[in-house]
Amino acid sequence: MYAKIADEFGAKTVLDIGCGTGTFACLLATQGFSVIGLDPAAASLTVARMKPGATRVQWIQGDIITVPAPRVDLVTMTGNVAQVFVDDVEWGLTLDRIRTALNPGGRFVFESRIPEDRAWLRWRRDSSTTRIHLPEIGALEYWVEVTEVQDGLVSFDSTFVFERDGAVVTSTSTLRFRSEEELAASLESADMFVSELREAPDRPGREMVFIAVASE
Ligand SMILES: C[S@@+](CC[C@H](N)C(=O)[O-])C[C@H]1O[C@@H](n2cnc3c(N)ncnc32)[C@H](O)[C@@H]1O
Repeated sequence: MYAKIADEFGAKTVLDIGCGTGTFACLLATQGFSVIGLDPAAASLTVARMKPGATRVQWIQGDIITVPAPRVDLVTMTGNVAQVFVDDVEWGLTLDRIRTALNPGGRFVFESRIPEDRAWLRWRRDSSTTRIHLPEIGALEYWVEVTEVQDGLVSFDSTFVFERDGAVVTSTSTLRFRSEEELAASLESADMFVSELREAPDRPGREMVFIAVASE
């Protein structure tokens, strides 16, 4: 769905917040859109810069609260980035900056996991273990394990085991599961409103996709 979204809304310029390793930003850039990929994680941007189409993307390390806001037709947050903003103040400031970044008629498109689906019940080692092969790194196995669920916050450990030297790396993350109503209210507080709510076509019942526009 995201691959066609820029076309659907006639956007020419796109800001992808939390672009990670840049797959979506590079895809859009190769389709001819002018793209900015923004992410605080330097390591992810290093990987992003190696992907086909990467030279056409403007990569910025940081977050939208601290970097000067560019003006764009479309702001995206793919891969449930909205859930990394666990704190309401930070989420509110982020939305304010997105509102400022949108050109007249621009859209903000993002998705968030539906709390009632309780995705965290599937975040167990036995059901989440995946083996992948990365160029230059080789085979690795990773899994996630929930450590705490409380008040809309879900904490989990992600463990990576590298086959080439047996190294084990574990990182801990926390995500916020906001309801549809909470997300709509937070957009409203930032002078945006939900023009459409869609299902993620490949994950029906699991994620809600918000299409927001600036209030007049
Ligand atoms: C689940 S990944 C999604 C990456 C990518 N959008 C995708 O769909 O594959 C979440 C991303 O959010 C980024 N992130 C974390 N805190 C952020 C912040 N304050 N502002 C922007 N991005 C942030 C992380 O570095 C990570 O790349």
